[in-house]
Amino acid sequence: MTIRFLLNGEPQAVDAPPTTTLLDWLRETRGLTGTKEGCNEGDCGACTVMVTDETGARALNACILFLPQLDGRAVRTVEGIAGPDGALHPVQQAMVEHHGSQCGFCTPGFIVSMATAHLNGRTDFDNQLAGNLCRCTGYAPIIRAAEAAALVPVPDWMEADAEMLDLLAHDVPAGSEIALPRSADALAEWYDAHPDATLIAGATDVGLWVTKNLRDLAPVAFLNQCDDLKGIVSDKETIRIGAMTSLTELGDFIADRHPSFAEMIRRYGSVQVRNAATVGGNIANGSPIGDSPPALIALGAALHLRKGDTRRALPLEEFFLDYGKQDRAPGEFVEAVSVPVQPDRLRVYKLSKRFDQDISAVCGAFSITVEDGTVTQARIAFGGMAGTPKRASTVEAALVGQPWARASVDAARARFAEDFTPLSDMRASAAYRLETASNMLLRYFGEMSGQPVSVLEVRP
Ligand SMILES: Cc1cc2nc3c(=O)[nH]c(=O)nc-3n(C[C@H](O)[C@H](O)[C@H](O)COP(=O)(O)OP(=O)(O)OC[C@H]3O[C@@H](n4cnc5c(N)ncnc54)[C@H](O)[C@@H]3O)c2cc1C
Ligand code: FES
Ligand code: FES
Repeated sequence: MTIRFLLNGEPQAVDAPPTTTLLDWLRETRGLTGTKEGCNEGDCGACTVMVTDETGARALNACILFLPQLDGRAVRTVEGIAGPDGALHPVQQAMVEHHGSQCGFCTPGFIVSMATAHLNGRTDFDNQLAGNLCRCTGYAPIIRAAEAAALVPVPDWMEADAEMLDLLAHDVPAGSEIALPRSADALAEWYDAHPDATLIAGATDVGLWVTKNLRDLAPVAFLNQCDDLKGIVSDKETIRIGAMTSLTELGDFIADRHPSFAEMIRRYGSVQVRNAATVGGNIANGSPIGDSPPALIALGAALHLRKGDTRRALPLEEFFLDYGKQDRAPGEFVEAVSVPVQPDRLRVYKLSKRFDQDISAVCGAFSITVEDGTVTQARIAFGGMAGTPKRASTVEAALVGQPWARASVDAARARFAEDFTPLSDMRASAAYRLETASNMLLRYFGEMSGQPVSVLEVRP
């Protein structure tokens, strides 16, 4: 399969094994060694590149980005950030002036993240650069450089990629080993005929199967060109989130409706990870520590699955059968997840050792309805407390029908051990998980009752 993309403004036609990462191709085939390999698992940002499609430019980690994901898009590496005449980009100039580089290993990744933020007019630098790790500078000079560059206009050459995307249009016929379908219908047909295939959405999990586990994944289907699986539509009753909606898009959309959900998403991986990771992938991987399922379950989400022309929907919590086991047949895929439009009662508490870029030890989501002082509905779901994302059904039952008062909350908190037998692992002990989960309910009660809640939390 030949794929076409722009590399630093130059059209490319590339025929390579489908799970070749952009990082390996840049360094080994093209000799573009400015893009660095640090962790090779999406954590450090040394490999950051800017990828532009018709929806805009975003920073992505090249180490967990497969070449077919680039078809029809434009890539800019650190070698393509300066102007065609060699003029430094404002972020490069500012990094020189503010001493933003010491050993320099992280610098290309920072430059690309900063140039992408600069192009997009983003000045929330702590957030934009949280996915780029530096061992030397202490970050302050880098942030000063980003602030200085923000005062300088975007150079013309940084806006050229978006105008050239039309040059890349071409058909990519599906084969038996690889497919790049353009629609959910095309995906459904191909996957039904190749039910053992691996689906690749954002590749923030699957990428590591290749870079860390050296797995051969064929046959594979890349979902990133299925436009009808992307995006969020809402009417008066329902919000429908397409499986290929990125975590960045979900965070932006949900911020007005359920700000606590958006706040949690801001702590999901990094900008680069959220730009790639999809809602469908975060559900379909069945991870017990996936961060979006608890919040979606607390909102009463339904999961929409499709196999061939047959569609079905089920409550999201019922999709997770056991550790590593989901209610998904061979050839069946996630089309969307939908949640009812509702008043915002949701609070999502992510507990992890670091503020940014960390997997949850416990992630608790709460949505409790109180009418005339009595609890009429409770939806409470957790990640990190069992082999799957799971509802706290006994705790919920203990609350419903009770007055919304400290005594009822304390009685319900005592029931957590009936719902969960968490594990001890490197992130947290079982006892810590159980205690913090029950404390989260107390925090929710305090916040929703307007009582002062004292939580020591890192704030950027
Ligand atoms: C550095 C880093 C930080 C991370 N931080 C977090 C974090 O803070 N919180 C968190 O929850 N996760 C985190 N993750 C994990 C990862 O980002 C998520 O699990 C992500 O949502 C997976 O989505 P994806 O689109 O990348 O899926 P992929 O990697 O493409 O796929 C994951 C799995 O889902 C399947 N799949 C994908 N889409 C579909 C579909 N539509 N239908 C059926 N099957 C499908 C794939 O076949 C595969 O089995 C992190 C990962 C990295 C590398
Ligand atoms: S090499 Fe560390 S994120 Fe890619
Ligand atoms: S300058 Fe050395 S790692 Fe950042």
